[in-house]
Amino acid sequence: MVMANSLKFVTVACCLFVVLLMAYPVESAKRYLFKTCEQSSFCRRNREYADLAQSKGAAWDSPYAIDSSTVQFDGGVLQGTILKSILDSKGDPTNVELPFQLVFLESGTARFMVDEKQRTDSPISGFPESITQRRYNEASKWAVTGDLTPDDNAIDATTDNERKDGVYKIKFGPDRYFEAVVESKPLRVAFYRDGEPQVILNDRGLINMDHWRAKPDPSQINDDPSLKNELDIKDMWEESFGGSTDTKPKGPESIALDVTFPGYEHVFGIPEHADKFSLRETRGGEGNHNEPYRLFNVDIFEYEVNSPMAMYGAIPFMQAQKKKSSVGIFWANGADTWIDIVKSKPNEQSFGVKKSTETHWISESGIIDMYVMLGPDPTSVYHQYGLLTGFTALPPIYAVGYHQCRWNYNSEDDVAEVDANFDKYEIPYDAIWLDIEYTENKKYFTWLKSMFPTPEKMMQNLDKRKRKLVVIIDPHIKKEAGYKTYETLSKGELAIKTSEGQEYNGWCWPGESAWIDTFNPKAADFWKDQYKPGKFCGYENNFLMWNDMNEPSVFNGPEVSAPRDALHYGNWEHRDVHNIYGATYHNATQQAMLARNPRQRPFVLTRSFFAGSQRYGAVWTGDNAASWDYLKIVTPMLLSHSIAGFSFVGADVGGFFGNPTPELLTRWYQAGAFYPFFRGHAHIESKRREPWLAGEPYTSLIRNAIRLRYQLLPSVYTAFHRASFDGVPIVRPMFLLAPENEEAFEIDDQFFFGETGLLVKPIVEEGARSTEIYIPDDELYYDYFDETIYEGIGYKHLDAPFEKIPILARGGHIIVRRDRYRRSATLMSHDPLTLVIHLDRSGNAGGVFYMDDGETMAYNRGAFLHRFFMFNAQDNILRSRSMQPSGASSRSYEKTIDEVRIEKIILVGFNTDKLKSARTVEAFQDKKSWSADIHVAETSDGKVSVVTVRDPKVLVIGDWSIQF
Ligand code: GLC
Repeated sequence: MVMANSLKFVTVACCLFVVLLMAYPVESAKRYLFKTCEQSSFCRRNREYADLAQSKGAAWDSPYAIDSSTVQFDGGVLQGTILKSILDSKGDPTNVELPFQLVFLESGTARFMVDEKQRTDSPISGFPESITQRRYNEASKWAVTGDLTPDDNAIDATTDNERKDGVYKIKFGPDRYFEAVVESKPLRVAFYRDGEPQVILNDRGLINMDHWRAKPDPSQINDDPSLKNELDIKDMWEESFGGSTDTKPKGPESIALDVTFPGYEHVFGIPEHADKFSLRETRGGEGNHNEPYRLFNVDIFEYEVNSPMAMYGAIPFMQAQKKKSSVGIFWANGADTWIDIVKSKPNEQSFGVKKSTETHWISESGIIDMYVMLGPDPTSVYHQYGLLTGFTALPPIYAVGYHQCRWNYNSEDDVAEVDANFDKYEIPYDAIWLDIEYTENKKYFTWLKSMFPTPEKMMQNLDKRKRKLVVIIDPHIKKEAGYKTYETLSKGELAIKTSEGQEYNGWCWPGESAWIDTFNPKAADFWKDQYKPGKFCGYENNFLMWNDMNEPSVFNGPEVSAPRDALHYGNWEHRDVHNIYGATYHNATQQAMLARNPRQRPFVLTRSFFAGSQRYGAVWTGDNAASWDYLKIVTPMLLSHSIAGFSFVGADVGGFFGNPTPELLTRWYQAGAFYPFFRGHAHIESKRREPWLAGEPYTSLIRNAIRLRYQLLPSVYTAFHRASFDGVPIVRPMFLLAPENEEAFEIDDQFFFGETGLLVKPIVEEGARSTEIYIPDDELYYDYFDETIYEGIGYKHLDAPFEKIPILARGGHIIVRRDRYRRSATLMSHDPLTLVIHLDRSGNAGGVFYMDDGETMAYNRGAFLHRFFMFNAQDNILRSRSMQPSGASSRSYEKTIDEVRIEKIILVGFNTDKLKSARTVEAFQDKKSWSADIHVAETSDGKVSVVTVRDPKVLVIGDWSIQF
C-alpha cells in the first residue's frame, strides 16, 4: 500500500512537472532553475580572485610560479613543476606541487597541461574510497581522436641567460614558424607567430587550482591561519541549490586560467549560447553581459535569447580573429565551466593600437588541458581543431534533405497520410520522425502497438518511396519490473549511480527512470544489443535515430540534470564528466547503428554535445519557440556551432513551442533551406503545421524553399564532404571570405553557404519586404534570382518580397544543381546536373563537385567522384578536371554513374561580345567534339548577361571542355 501510494505520488508529481514544463510561457526561461556565477561557489571564488588580482595591478603576486630547477625539454615536451605557495596549518609557507607539460604536437598545435601531484600517502582524509583519487584527466580521451605525438622537430632556442632567468623558448610547428616563450615568475606562456604574441596563457596571473586538502573543522578557523584563506568554507565542502545538496566529497577542486589574445578585438565560438556570434564582454557595461558565458549541458526549454546562459551542449573551443590573422584555443574539460570575457584598452607598447581580448576560463574540476592553435587563418584553425577532435562525419545524402517531425505523428495511418501529402503537394522530403509517443509508456525499444501495430510494414512502405523513418531513443530507461531493457541495465549495473554506489533514479518522460552510463564500455555493448536486427525492429534499411534529453535531462534533478556527486564508470563523479555525457550517449547510438548495419552510414541526431560530437552525427538547437526573435537568433547560433567544428547543425523550423503565423513559418522555411540540418518540428500542443496546411500563397512558397534546397543538394553535399576532411564549415562567417575586412567580423545575420559562394540573408522580421545585405569584399555579386549586379564593400538594398529569399551569388564560384523535382534526395542520385557559373571580376570561376553513392561506406574505398570545374577568361573555356587523389580507384563506382550528364550550363556575367554572332559552343570529350546550342539573355537594367547552354551532352565522369 505504502509502495503503491508512493508510486502514485511519483507519477502525479512527475506529470505535474511535465505539465508545468509544457505550459510555461514562451518568453521567459526558468532562470531560477539554473545557477548564476554568484550561486556557484567555484565560479564566485575565481571571479573574486580575478578582481583581487585586478585591484592589485602590477603589484599582484600570484602564488603560482614554475620551479625552474625542475624544467626540462626533451622530445617535443617542455615539462617541470609549478609550485603553488600556501600556508600550512602552523602558518608557515609551504608548496603544492603541480606538474606541468607543454607538449608541441606534430600537427603544430601546442598543449599545456597542469595536474596536481599524485599523493603517495593515503587518500586525502575524508575522501571516500569509492571515488577515484585523481583529478579527472580524460576529457581529451573522449574529445580528441587526433595524433597527440610530440614533435621531435620542436627545438629549444633558449639562451643561457634566458635559462638563468627561468625563461624558455621553444620553436615549433611547420618550419618552426611558431614560438612558445615560457616565463617562470610571473608564470606566463606566450605563443608567437610572425614575431608577435598571438595567445598568452596566464597573462593576468589568474591561474588557479584548488589543491586537494582535508576538510577543515570550522571550529579551528580562528586558530589556523591557513583556513583564513578558505574564504568560503561552507560552499567549498557542500553546496545546496534549488533544494538539492551536492555532498562534494572531494571538496573544492576548481581550476582556472586566463588567456589573452593580444590585438584581437573579436572572439567567437564556445557554443552553445543563444547569443551574438562575436562574443560579448561579460563584466557589465552597455550591451555587455554581467554573467560569464557558461558551458553546462542543461535542458533549458524556451531558452532566453541574447543570453550567456548554459544550453544543451558545450564546445570549449574559442577562435580569435583580427585582420588577416586567426588563432584558436580548446579547453579540454567536461565539468561545469564559466568563461569571462573583457576587452582591454590598447597596450601600445606591446600589441599596437588594437584592443585585446582577455578571457578567464573557470571549471569546477579536472586538470588544466589547453590546446593552442596558431592558424594563421580561419581555415587553418578549423583544420587544426579537426585534426584534434575529428571532422564532421560525412552524412548520408538523405540526411541533408528535408526532415518532417512533430511531437507526435500518432499512428501508422498518420505517418502514411503525411507521407502521401508530400507527394500530393509535390514537396520533396526524406525522413519522417516519430517522437516519444510511438513507444509503449515511453519505454524505448517498444512500440505502442495500438497505434503502430506493424512498424516494419510502415518502414517498408516509406522505403518504397526512398524515404526514412527516424525514431527517438532517450537515455532514461523507465524503471519498471518486467521491462527487459531496464532489467538488463539494472542487473548489469550499467546505469549512473548515486554517490553511495546505488542505481541513480530520477524522473523524466517515463516517470521514474535510470540513466544508461555510456562511459561504461559494457553499457555501450548493451546498447548495441538493443539495436540488433529483429530485436527492436526487423526492418533496418531506412531506420534512423534521434537522441534527446542526453544532457542528461532529469526533471527533478539539480539544474534539471543529474547530481554532481553521482558516479560514473571508473568511479568518476558526474561533476567531472557532465558535459561529456551527452556525447558518449550519441557515440554509443552511432556505434550501435554501425554494428547493426556496418555497410550503411548511420544518421543520429543529438541534442546534447561536446567537442568531438561532430564525429557522431547532427545536432539541433533544442526547444525554441515560434517567434521572430527565435528565428533571428538561429543564424548566429549556426555560425558559432559551425566554427567550433560542428557543421551539421540546424534549428526547429517553425519554432518548437507555440504556433507560427503563416508568414513566420514561410520565412523560417526560406531560412531553413540553408540550415545544414533542415527539419520542421513542433511541440505536442502546437497546431499541426505541415507545409500544405499553411494554405496559399504560403504552401507554394514553402514548397519553393524546400525545392530550392533540393536543387542545391549536390553543392550542399560537396560542402559536407569538405567539412569531413578539412573542417571548413558549411555555414560560413564573413571573415572566411573577407579576412581583411574587420568591419564585417561582427556581422551575424547573413552567411556564406558552403562552396557555392551564395551569400544568404534570411528575413527575420515580420512584414519586411526588403533588406540591407552587406557585401564584405571587393568581388562582384549577382542577385541569385535575377542577376542584378552589386559591387563595392558595404550595405546594399535588396527587395525581398514575400516570395524571395535575399541571396547574392559571389563572383568566382560554380554551383552544381539538380533541377528536377523528385520525391526524395536518394531518388535524385542519377539525375543530370546543372552548372551555374558566376564570373568574378577577371571573368574566371571555379567550383568543386563531390559525389558518391550517398549511403554506404564505399567512399572510404575510393568509390566517389571528385571533380573541379573551372571557367578561364583567357581562353573562354569551361573545363572539368579530376580531383581524385592518385591511386584511388573509382572506376567501378564511375561505371554506376556513367550516364549522369550535365544537362545545362548557365554562365552569368559573361561578356557576350566575345560570342560574336555565334549561337553555339563547342564541346570536347573523349577525343570527340560537337556543338551545343546556347541561349543568350543580354545585359539590361543593371542585370548582367546570362548565357545558357542547353544539353551540352558532356558527362559528369571524365575530363571535358566547352569552348565559348
Ligand atoms: C524535448 C525535445 C523535443 C521533443 C520533446 C519530446 O523537449 O527537445 O524536440 O519533441 O522533448 O520528446
